[in-house]
Amino acid sequence: MKLYAEVAEQYSDFAAYAADSRCFRDWASRAATDQALLGWIGRLPAIKQQPNLVFAAARWHGVPAPGPYENLREALLCDDGSIRDTILRRSTQTNEVGRLATLAPVFARIARKSGPLSLVEAGASAGLCLYPDRYRYRYEFVQPQRSELWPVGDGPILDARAKGAFSVPTHSFEVSWRGGIDLSPLDVDDDDAMAWLETLVWPEQHERRARLRQAVQIARQEPARIQRGDILTDLPSLIDQAAPHGQVVVFHSAVVAYLEPAARERFDELMRDLVAAGACRWVSNEGKNVLPSITRTGPSIPENHPTFVLGLDGVACAWTHGHGSSLRWLD
Ligand SMILES: C[S@@+](CC[C@H](N)C(=O)[O-])C[C@H]1O[C@@H](n2cnc3c(N)ncnc32)[C@H](O)[C@@H]1O
Repeated sequence: MKLYAEVAEQYSDFAAYAADSRCFRDWASRAATDQALLGWIGRLPAIKQQPNLVFAAARWHGVPAPGPYENLREALLCDDGSIRDTILRRSTQTNEVGRLATLAPVFARIARKSGPLSLVEAGASAGLCLYPDRYRYRYEFVQPQRSELWPVGDGPILDARAKGAFSVPTHSFEVSWRGGIDLSPLDVDDDDAMAWLETLVWPEQHERRARLRQAVQIARQEPARIQRGDILTDLPSLIDQAAPHGQVVVFHSAVVAYLEPAARERFDELMRDLVAAGACRWVSNEGKNVLPSITRTGPSIPENHPTFVLGLDGVACAWTHGHGSSLRWLD
């Protein structure tokens, strides 16, 4: 029996998954066959053995990325305890504002009917996605080939490829209130937390890193209230706070996957009940298998097509790229 076989498998799976990072692909595939390194990683608690966390901690302590695997290896094997301590104290977390290019058209649709939006983000992280009104959006169409700019705000441009029956909204929308819930909220004014968030962006993803920095600056101008809480129990009280300020929209992206299957169903029911009671509109953006009741309302998705499904009030309206770089409109 091979020692640390499960860790090796985790790292070789990650190497296959990390198509967007040549460096991480290289690090993960070489770590997967390096018994000494597997031993070092294998002595971490199981939940802390994830490649994303181990690599980010090494980078946090100066290992250059992109850079040679040998540097990573030496840093971990000669660690004086500092890298291990970072791994134990911190966790992986993302906050991807690129997703707003796919969420904003649905916000515009709601606002057209109901006026200013009171946004409540479930699983908000640092709350960077709570500023959809600050960006301009540029959609690239293939047929006929063209690009259209939608200037909702006057901030940075977020790009997405548009497919299917999508037409760029002709109207803007206003956000009158913003708040969120997260199990582990990050404070945009905490330089250390923001630097760690940046370290979690993969090395070659320069665009994502630049977008993150801009998003932090935008959020710092008007910090939203992100409270510590669980989306399964604490949403209704946040909705009550949001309600006096405009049409409440609860939204979430890349969050429900973190719940166990039974809890996902409970969340789905909770949201359907809140919508039925008129407490809010519901914008969901999750992997295709995460909220099957929503995915089922759209066309069937080929098995080999990884996609998020964007939903409004429990009905699929688009297939979206997980980081917001494309959307295929369904109606
Ligand atoms: C991948 S991040 C996505 C953050 C943000 N929605 C975005 O699109 O960039 C998932 C977030 O969900 C939060 N989360 C996971 N389960 C949660 C729960 N039960 N209640 C509240 N937040 C949760 C995590 O702490 C994390 O910040």
